[in-house]
Amino acid sequence: MQKHSTLGEYIIRNQKQFKYSSGELSRLINSIRLAAKVVNHEVNKAGLVDILGNAGDTNIQGEDQQKLDVYANDVFMQTLTNRQIVCGIASEEEDDFVTISGNNGANSNKYVVLIDPLDGSSNIDVNVSVGTIFSVYRRITKAGTPVQLEDFLQKGNKQVAAGYIVYGTSTLLVYTTGHGVNGFTLNPAIGTFYLSHPNMKFPKNGTIYSINEGNYIHFPQGVKDYLKFCQEEKENRPYSARYIGSLVSDFHRNMIKGGIYMYPTSTKAPKGKLRLLYECNPIAFLTEQAGGVASDGYRRILDIKPLELHQRVPIFCGSKNMVEKAIKFMEKYPKDAEY
Ligand code: AHG
Ligand code: MN
Ligand code: MN
Repeated sequence: MQKHSTLGEYIIRNQKQFKYSSGELSRLINSIRLAAKVVNHEVNKAGLVDILGNAGDTNIQGEDQQKLDVYANDVFMQTLTNRQIVCGIASEEEDDFVTISGNNGANSNKYVVLIDPLDGSSNIDVNVSVGTIFSVYRRITKAGTPVQLEDFLQKGNKQVAAGYIVYGTSTLLVYTTGHGVNGFTLNPAIGTFYLSHPNMKFPKNGTIYSINEGNYIHFPQGVKDYLKFCQEEKENRPYSARYIGSLVSDFHRNMIKGGIYMYPTSTKAPKGKLRLLYECNPIAFLTEQAGGVASDGYRRILDIKPLELHQRVPIFCGSKNMVEKAIKFMEKYPKDAEY
């Protein structure tokens, strides 16, 4: 009798937890599982084959694309397209959303996927963990017709599933369908994910703060005040600073150990850096499902109405008490920018 159930067994067992259980969402998670294994294989070979470094292009947001950004994007797009499981995909690496038209023109699938194929890609050349983030919505336009922008610009609170893969010391797939958060570790010898982290929960309090503190001088006053609070010698402070520079890895560590992750606005990045649809919403859904809080400093992330595909917002997420404290500091000052 084996100790852990596999991801495949878990999906079958919990099929009815999916809100509109038709098997479609199960097949979608299965496809993500397959693409994750393919990307994992390539990430693990980095350094041996010619996949390190810059692809020589920029994405629509003006960021350099790494070869692995392009590779991971292709793998996820192709897997989800070939299996005819979704009706549309939006990716951080694509200018516009992609319509999946189906074998005979029509596509009756009900879900759209939004994806950050490779998160933290600037870390790949130095052997530091990277990830993939995904977010799933039920389309709002009529099934069988081409998807529209409005199918992608839904508030985060409409997500039916979200998760990430972290390609780290081991490779984990962590996801939620709105019934808590579960993590599955890949056994690379046999290519199977096993349930290793059931019912993941943020500790209510933590002692880790994660932020790119090099930007301190550019931060809003509320953030500067909160950082001084984190560093004060009082109660269980000063906290430890931990920042990998891969959202997925920083978030994963904080969920296990207890902590707060922050990417605020700054004079350099007046709307913040992270993308609402590909990064903040899925991370916020996971945060809340794990008992934490996710805010832009003033509003719940999941209640923000997206206005464009590649929209950026500031984010504060993690252990409930820590994020609530940070919000108190933020609220002492008016918002410094519109986003
Ligand atoms: P991506 O690689 O998908 O562009 O995301 C990078 C993001 C995120 O993973 C990370 O937390 C953040 O950028 C780091 O930004 P800084 O280098 O500005 O700290
Ligand atoms: Mn990212
Ligand atoms: Mn990315």
